[in-house]
Amino acid sequence: MSYALETKGLKRQFGAFLATNDVNLQVKQGARHALIGPNGAGKTTLINLLTGVLAPSAGRIILNGEDITETPPHQRVQKGVTRTFQINRLFNDFTPLESITLAIGERDGIGGNLWRPLSSYKPAIDEAAALLERFGLASVMGERTAILPYGKQRLLEIAIAFASGPKVLLLDEPAAGVPEDERHEVLSIVSALPADVTVVLIEHDMDLVFSFADHISVLVAGAIFAEGSVQEIAGDPRVKAVYLGESA
Ligand SMILES: Nc1ncnc2c1ncn2[C@@H]1O[C@H](COP(=O)(O)OP(=O)(O)OP(=O)(O)O)[C@@H](O)[C@H]1O
Ligand SMILES: [Mg+2]
Repeated sequence: MSYALETKGLKRQFGAFLATNDVNLQVKQGARHALIGPNGAGKTTLINLLTGVLAPSAGRIILNGEDITETPPHQRVQKGVTRTFQINRLFNDFTPLESITLAIGERDGIGGNLWRPLSSYKPAIDEAAALLERFGLASVMGERTAILPYGKQRLLEIAIAFASGPKVLLLDEPAAGVPEDERHEVLSIVSALPADVTVVLIEHDMDLVFSFADHISVLVAGAIFAEGSVQEIAGDPRVKAVYLGESA
């Protein structure tokens, strides 16, 4: 079995504290893979290791069979590893159409070239409009980002990440802060992305996780505590105990 993304014995220490403890993660090609676990379990740290923002203390990271442990972050993006952040990072004065067109320009290496005729941006603008349609943003593509409903803002962030042409999309709580009635739209759009894009999702809302994921890894205290299908994890009394322990 070849995996889209794999870690072997991945560790990360902060001083004496083990934030990532011997993680062997296996994400299948085209998976909708959820990474869950209590606050402070090490979910964001794992994403930071996968994207190269943090260096591991030990272990390997393998992308489509290629060892990328030493690969710098920007080269990982070029190889197809893209993420969004737990906290929204959009340009508020831009419109969605502008943001996506810029992202496409950056992907194609045409950003910032002042000497290109305006008409040569047309393919990028057309592609941006199609992409905004896919993300449920067509009706607001000309609005200032700042005034969009929060669910649309989070969708725009994911659309920007998607515009870079990722093979693996890492989403750190994309529905965090989104009102209840917009959350399902965010994740159902992500779930419906093309099958050649593998998605790793961090999410606390179990209803969303269970409707989104085909595979779940449960992280507790930096280590993988349980893994399996939605049925397996939803029915695992040890996993329930972890979450009940948290809310108690
Ligand atoms: N740069 C750092 N220096 C020291 N400790 C850190 C650092 N980054 C994370 N940690 C610690 O590592 C642990 C895991 O943090 P992390 O942010 O990965 O958790 P998380 O699972 O994403 O939690 P949440 O669900 O709250 O987002 C926490 O105890 C955190 O305090
Ligand atoms: Mg986090």
